[in-house]
Amino acid sequence: MENRPLEYDYSVSKLFIYSALAIGFIGMLVGVVIAWEMAFPAINTIFGDGAIAEYTNFSRLRVLHTDSVIYGFVLSGVFSTWYYVGQRVLKVSMAESKALMFIGYAHFWIYMIAALVLVISLFMGVTQSKEYAEFEWPLDLGITIVWLLFGASIAGLIGMRREKTLYISIWYYIATFLAVAMLHLLNNLAIPTYFASDGIGAWYHSVSMYAGTNDALVQWWFGHNAVAFVLTTPIIAMIYYFLPKESGQAIYSYKLSLLSFWGLMFIYLWAGGHHILFSTVPDWVQTLGSVFSVILILPSWGSAINMLLTMKGEWQQVATNPIIKFMVLGSTFYMFSTLEGPIQAIKSVNAIAHFTDWIIGHVHDGALGWVVFMIMGAVYHMIPRLYGREIYSKKIMATQFWIQTLGIVLYFTSMWIAGITQGMMWRAHDEFGNLAYSFIDTVTVLHPYYIIRAVGGSLYLVGFAMFIYNVVKTMTSGRRVEASELQNRTPMAD
Ligand code: HEM
Ligand code: HEM
Repeated sequence: MENRPLEYDYSVSKLFIYSALAIGFIGMLVGVVIAWEMAFPAINTIFGDGAIAEYTNFSRLRVLHTDSVIYGFVLSGVFSTWYYVGQRVLKVSMAESKALMFIGYAHFWIYMIAALVLVISLFMGVTQSKEYAEFEWPLDLGITIVWLLFGASIAGLIGMRREKTLYISIWYYIATFLAVAMLHLLNNLAIPTYFASDGIGAWYHSVSMYAGTNDALVQWWFGHNAVAFVLTTPIIAMIYYFLPKESGQAIYSYKLSLLSFWGLMFIYLWAGGHHILFSTVPDWVQTLGSVFSVILILPSWGSAINMLLTMKGEWQQVATNPIIKFMVLGSTFYMFSTLEGPIQAIKSVNAIAHFTDWIIGHVHDGALGWVVFMIMGAVYHMIPRLYGREIYSKKIMATQFWIQTLGIVLYFTSMWIAGITQGMMWRAHDEFGNLAYSFIDTVTVLHPYYIIRAVGGSLYLVGFAMFIYNVVKTMTSGRRVEASELQNRTPMAD
């Protein structure tokens, strides 16, 4: 290991931060719009029922929301941290290899072009109707190229590293790359209809290689693990790096981190069946999904507890440092959603929860409380080191934290109540087996909860706008500070 600090090249990391800020805002704005559309359906046709209405109604916008926040915002956050953490932990600079720099830039720009085409295709309503895998085959090829470039940067930095030991964060980034590559390829195997049937249909249209139940099985094996390897493993990679760095505390237990890693890898892959309980997939697959989901609490809580115990003896930092607030609440929400998920996976509970807003509540306490909080915490940690400037305003950070926390609480509590109400009303019946309520009865009852969710989501978005403002202000007019000064504040090595 060298004594002289390496000159790391953060240009690619910076580019991905810009895209995280921009796409994050747009994706969440669309989330807020569809939340209001659910509360007041008239908004769907605010532009009349002419040509524009097609592009602004709930069904067209929902998929733009999910895909932009997950693949646009979260992945930008993941890539930005990878190009930062990877260099520092492996003790190698991107600038040491022209090829690596090329891969980094190509990764960013091809990703941007792909994102643009994806947005256009979704606006046009072009989809293969698989949730979170909506894109048709030409776009799937584009995504494959972006992913291979990510993999090449991982392999490149690891290949050139000076630090022999692979810190646990690197394990999680590698797992993210390998698992998503496998899921994406296997779930999207399809036959382009145009080429298979003498030019019938649109050239980009395809049908899945799998039929019926098998298609559903592969899709939810993919869907669940997309949650695992996009919304979980790379975020754990971040927290294992940024929490110790920001707090100056060593990881509580390296052994626990390894145990949780392998536990997560092994168990996650079997749990996807919990998305298709009571469907036509074999009963044993459903039971397997339920059982593995419950066991999944162990490795999930293993990581989260390891994080919280890392703060042992230093809890006062939660009060004084807003970045630590984001990370500690993030870990807590991770524990929360990984307890809620297994409960929803129990068959008798799922009979009430499936298709209801309780699932939407679960998605968002994980997404807003864990994933977005961690990404914001990571960006707040990186920005001063990337730009050599102090965070512009700690006050904005702290205020934003409370506004967003209130937003999450409003979001998930309203969805819990709405979901359980829905589930109970749908199954209520009289002594002759007649349903006690019509569908519209449930819609009427849910109205106030949809308004509360929309208010909560709007607050969250306001907090995110404050985050963007604070980050941009830091980049442009934060007080200048020496890199060494920042280094002293975080006593741990790279
Ligand atoms: C121990 C970990 C977890 C388990 C066992 C679990 C379990 C579940 C279950 C049972 C469902 C509902 C399936 C249904 O009836 O439709 C679900 C949905 C979902 N969960 Fe989790 N969950 C876990 C953690 C997480 C985390 C950390 C996130 C991250 C944000 C997350 C995101 C999602 C998403 C996005 C869906 C909705 C999928 C869809 O139907 O479109 N889950 N989860
Ligand atoms: C301001 C913040 C947000 C608001 C207001 C919001 C709102 C919504 C709404 C209204 C839906 C449709 C629910 C339905 O169909 O009943 C939805 C779905 C979804 N959102 Fe968000 N969202 C926000 C942020 C996020 C973030 C940051 C993520 C992920 C990182 C996310 C992931 C999802 C997913 C995966 C679904 C589909 C869930 C499912 O099918 O079960 N959302 N969101």
